[in-house]
Amino acid sequence: MKDAPTLAEAVAEVGREMAAHRGEGRVADYIPALARVDPNRFGLAVITVDGETAEFGDAWVPFSIQSISKVFTLALALERVGEGLWTRVGREPSGSRFNSIVQLEAEGGVPRNPFINAGAIVTTDAVLDSRTPEVAIAEIRDFLRRLSGVETIDIDAEVARSEAETGFRNASLANFLRAFGNLKSPVADVLETYFSQCAIRITCRQLARAGLFLAREGLDPLNGARVLSPEHARRINAIMMTCGHYDASGEFAFQVGLPGKSGVGGGILTIVPDRAAVAVWSPGLNEVGNSQVGTLALERLAAKMGWSVF
Ligand code: DON
Repeated sequence: MKDAPTLAEAVAEVGREMAAHRGEGRVADYIPALARVDPNRFGLAVITVDGETAEFGDAWVPFSIQSISKVFTLALALERVGEGLWTRVGREPSGSRFNSIVQLEAEGGVPRNPFINAGAIVTTDAVLDSRTPEVAIAEIRDFLRRLSGVETIDIDAEVARSEAETGFRNASLANFLRAFGNLKSPVADVLETYFSQCAIRITCRQLARAGLFLAREGLDPLNGARVLSPEHARRINAIMMTCGHYDASGEFAFQVGLPGKSGVGGGILTIVPDRAAVAVWSPGLNEVGNSQVGTLALERLAAKMGWSVF
């Protein structure tokens, strides 16, 4: 029987195997500034709780974090308002598209979970906590800077503007939430904060490092800092597993077997509890809106490394 590969070997093998798939999927074009991204990009970065790293391809190229930011705002919202957050947003998979309006209306303005857009707009409102968008946006950006140790992480103003100019569905969701009494701040402030957090530019290397605290129950294993309580970290992992890929979350759990969160920029952050954090980026999306080649790469990496929570 062949020996299990080392992490470096597994990452290199997966990177090579993905060469045949580069460019698959469709780059998100509903935000004009995202549509220009080169579909052939592919980056993969792993960092373990012992500090070992392995990277492939465009692991150092910044991309748009998009919905992966929802993991970090959920962490900030839980720390700010605690368990009370769950009266405003649920934790059930939605089975609907990430920007569905029908479900929000039918369910009385309480979004199914914090990772669909309506739920993320609520968690963003909780982080905003009646402050100005500038303050909340800086808090979210600084959280990512602190977690990754990279002070240059910033918001791509063009992507934020592009999304604000075309985000009619998100504006509808925010207005519905406000009508149901589930937004405290003005709709314009919540949307500005939400669009800005989605427009953060980050690399696979930085994203994996930023997510590493989730692999150690809220404790940063490399500098010993307590980022989040163990209870909150466990809950975020549970929601990543059940809701992190929208209506393909069951498929991701089945194929990859790890908590993960995707974004329409083509990134996916995946947590291997007690072991590592993995970030992958490939801009082409499948029909559900998750990175097509990124998902395949994670499937292969998890299989080679024997990683699964099951
Ligand atoms: O709300 C939006 O449309 C985007 N800024 C984020 C959506 C997103 O990344 C959905 N993910 N797959």
